[in-house]
Amino acid sequence: MTSIRDNRLYIGVFSADELLERFGSPLYVYDAATIRERFRVLRDVLIFPDTDLHYACKANTNVAILRLLREEGACIDAVSPGEVYLALYAGFAPDRILFTGNNVTDEEMAYLLAQRILINIDSLSQLERYGRMAPGTDISLRINPDTGSGHHDHCITGGPDSKFGLCLDQLDEIRALSDRSKLQVVGLHAHVGSGILDAEPFMKAVDALLGVVPYFAHLTFVDFGGGFGVPYAPDERPLDIRDFGDRLSSRFRDFCAAYGRLLRLKLEPGRYLVAEAGTLLTRCNTVKTNRLKTFVGVDSGLHHLIRYPLYNAYHEIVNASCVSGELLVYDVCGQICESSDFFTRNRSISCIREGDTLAILNAGAYGFAMSSNYNSRPRPAEVLIDGDKAQLVRRRETFEDLLRSQITD
Ligand SMILES: Cc1ncc(COP(=O)(O)O)c(C=O)c1O
Repeated sequence: MTSIRDNRLYIGVFSADELLERFGSPLYVYDAATIRERFRVLRDVLIFPDTDLHYACKANTNVAILRLLREEGACIDAVSPGEVYLALYAGFAPDRILFTGNNVTDEEMAYLLAQRILINIDSLSQLERYGRMAPGTDISLRINPDTGSGHHDHCITGGPDSKFGLCLDQLDEIRALSDRSKLQVVGLHAHVGSGILDAEPFMKAVDALLGVVPYFAHLTFVDFGGGFGVPYAPDERPLDIRDFGDRLSSRFRDFCAAYGRLLRLKLEPGRYLVAEAGTLLTRCNTVKTNRLKTFVGVDSGLHHLIRYPLYNAYHEIVNASCVSGELLVYDVCGQICESSDFFTRNRSISCIREGDTLAILNAGAYGFAMSSNYNSRPRPAEVLIDGDKAQLVRRRETFEDLLRSQITD
């Protein structure tokens, strides 16, 4: 959690300035207490006997965070064999990992089968190929419930425009293909989008997915996906998580009672667990003005946090070296040779001087995970703060890392 002391920003017991001095700039900093607290809140609002929270690790795959969530009792939602590899490395048992990939190859399925990972099938093609590879085994189905929601068009993953999942009008074909290969459908899944702050669209998808349950006689779980948003901008209201938990739990309880069988309830939160726990710290090196603007140039950019150029996403930006000073209007930009390389435009921030530390808040989800080496720039280091410890959990990349996978002779 962040706080302000002596007009400086603190993350836990450490000032942002001190963290940059110790670990260098730029730096992703994660607060373990916030991740634990979010996990426990979500777990506690679900009043249902058999519940699994699968951390959607695409949000942040740092192994320290995976281990922390494993210790809390999380399972894993993995969307690539690489994520499965990291989850296994972090100590998750194979039966606590559910794989939900898109356009999955046979080679990828062979890897997952060898690791004994349950696969959530995404298309008729995949179902047919899987049936040939592993007849007589268990599968789960990703259903597109024909409805979607999200903080940006790019983040809507249900409905007719979405490439994800099997369609509601394919249920007969799904059953025929499953029967042909003696596949047991043990789970149903839907994930309709990301950044949802209103329970209503989520509940619509819940109803659509529950409508599919009677088609399959051997189900053991229903997985309603993730997508729970966090407020990024000052005018955004947080999702009423207690109301959401009540609505989902009672809807599922009533459904299971009418259905005559108790199924497991699964969710796949990513952003909700880690977004607010992460801060990107970056140092201002250039303040530059023209007749219209003041540009604040920092030692980071879209290669470290792409959410503003990609989604026009809002991140609170604090001058961590001088939290309350004269408010001036800035465009905060990075080092990348792209005209979209901004963290914000026209934002009032406490007067920034070269050398100041800027804190870009709520950057724990889809921050480092979406980073790149664009412009041949190394990725930043990552630090996990837990109580009075600040532990380096990923070293800063070096120029040698830029050459690591190239064949140069
Ligand atoms: C299948 C699946 N599950 C869960 C998630 C997690 O979404 P969020 O981080 O919004 O909770 C995603 C995100 O894209 C997803 O594709």
